[in-house]
Amino acid sequence: MCGIVGYIGNNQAAPFLLDGMSKLEYRGYDSAGIAVYEKGKITVEKCVGRLDSLRQKLDGHMPEGTMGIGHTRWATHGRPSDRNSHPHTDASGEFVVVHNGIIENYLVLKEDLIAKGHKFVSETDTEVVAHLMAAYYDGDFEETVKRVLRVIEGSYSLVFMCAKEPEKIICTKKDNPLVIGLGEGENFIASDIPAIIAKTRRTFIMSDGEIATVTKDSVWVQDINGTPISKKVFEVNWNAEAAEKGGFEHFMLKEIYEQPKSIRDTMTGRVPKDSHGIEFTELGWTEEEMAGINKIFIVACGTAYHAGIVGKYYLEQLARIPVEVDIASEFRYRSPLVDGNSLTIVISQSGETSDTLAALKEAKRLGSRTLAVTNVVGSSISREADQVVYTYAGPEIAVASTKAYTTQLLVMLMLAIYVGRLRGTLDIAKAHKLVEGLHDIPEQIHKLLENVDQIKVFATRYGSSEDAFFLGRSLDYAVALEGALKLKEISYIHAEAYAAGELKHGTLALIVEGVPVIVLATQPDVYDKTVSNLQEVKAREAMVIAIAFEGDDSIAKYADHVIFIPRTDKYLAPLLAVLPLQLLAYYAALTRGCDVDKPRNLAKSVTVE
Ligand code: F6R
Repeated sequence: MCGIVGYIGNNQAAPFLLDGMSKLEYRGYDSAGIAVYEKGKITVEKCVGRLDSLRQKLDGHMPEGTMGIGHTRWATHGRPSDRNSHPHTDASGEFVVVHNGIIENYLVLKEDLIAKGHKFVSETDTEVVAHLMAAYYDGDFEETVKRVLRVIEGSYSLVFMCAKEPEKIICTKKDNPLVIGLGEGENFIASDIPAIIAKTRRTFIMSDGEIATVTKDSVWVQDINGTPISKKVFEVNWNAEAAEKGGFEHFMLKEIYEQPKSIRDTMTGRVPKDSHGIEFTELGWTEEEMAGINKIFIVACGTAYHAGIVGKYYLEQLARIPVEVDIASEFRYRSPLVDGNSLTIVISQSGETSDTLAALKEAKRLGSRTLAVTNVVGSSISREADQVVYTYAGPEIAVASTKAYTTQLLVMLMLAIYVGRLRGTLDIAKAHKLVEGLHDIPEQIHKLLENVDQIKVFATRYGSSEDAFFLGRSLDYAVALEGALKLKEISYIHAEAYAAGELKHGTLALIVEGVPVIVLATQPDVYDKTVSNLQEVKAREAMVIAIAFEGDDSIAKYADHVIFIPRTDKYLAPLLAVLPLQLLAYYAALTRGCDVDKPRNLAKSVTVE
């Protein structure tokens, strides 16, 4: 996820670019840069850090010119650095590009270009695109862009300038957003509406495969075969703040709705269609290496810790390795029995959580191999660990973690499939079934999110409760823990999660008439036992909401309400079952008038002990 802007018109480009980028910083803030054209030359200014660092760099010598492009980066390929910042150019500096997304086949393309004499200065996938432009250019800017699009694979929004054809900017997209703003004698390009709303409300949204040629007086849209496309222009009627949240009332809700995309992005390049397994080129583990690992420790805090508990089930059941899951602040002080045959996996959205970082250092000190699962490229945890697997959730702004959690679950499942295949504990047929199921998940999440009215009603009806309980067995228990945390942290309702079989050992005393109990029943091996526990709480007159698979007609006989989720494999169920829990927490918090995105006493990244 990155932010992109472009300007062409009669005014100076740089002030608009910087202002537009400031509205897109929620899309990434690792580095920032602009490129401005004037008198046959494109000037590129960029640096690592937030937009303010770029502003300081430009103070007193803003590049002049009436055409330019800009970018705020959320690093994916290549750590945050001046060189890896966008815009990127070819060696001559005549072709300039900004990119949001991932060019999956960039390594192959790069090797080919290097063999032909191209020299690269960055570690990014994007620089390849600028070099391809230079390699393919034959005097026709649009046709060159089309040639490049025919060879690149992956997801992208791309905006190009060419010093040889300075009267136009060209942009295109696939699986990443791009909007065009229409002005008088000037036109605008951006990843999102907040960047242009101060200049114009007349916009249209680019669709996948469209190529727009933007001049100061016109915008011409075509497809890759040159067929003209007419676009429907609309007037934006949101205010600027709502626009930044993409029209959602809160970042949390926006991030919940981004989950189909973040799941898809995190699978990109790792879950080939029709395959029997998972590819982790960034790990490159071998059977021999795996044979040397006799125990895995998973260490994390909060929501990431809950993803770790799910990971334990996955790795133990699919890869048959013993796993211990630890809260980072406990692990670091409990003299864990970690040694050279251990693998320690730390999970952290921010990559900066102080307890997790300290636990990682402790594991390293004890001789363990270490692997970080994090969402932030270049973060302290990513630098400290021996190896890193990134989640591609994009920036998570709301304090309550949602899309980062589901991408962490996904990475843990992909790791378990990968290790299970390496160790021979997971057969091809089962791996294939899981991989097939994973491809359906984004659409299934999408479907779930289309139908939230029932959840809103429950949240309103039970939002005044002071206590709530979440029950489940096996993977459902792990998800119940996350459901309870979500509800607590944003609605301030006291919530507890229990392994359903544990209830009768004390907690049943708290179940009285009308107490909301959310029972997850998605795990077939323990389904009957979970339903028995459901009946135990129902017998105490609790108000029971069950989370079950579509087609489970029997559970409605016992529960007061049922929220159905699309049917999937038991290992994939957590990726869907947590959605209603996130939404219940969100709407309960709304009902109670809580500050959803910034709950009291909490911070997004906990860099103190
Ligand atoms: C809860 C939440 C926190 C974080 C925890 C770890 O919604 O967001 O519990 O999960 O503070 O943060 P990271 O993953 O950044 O290490």
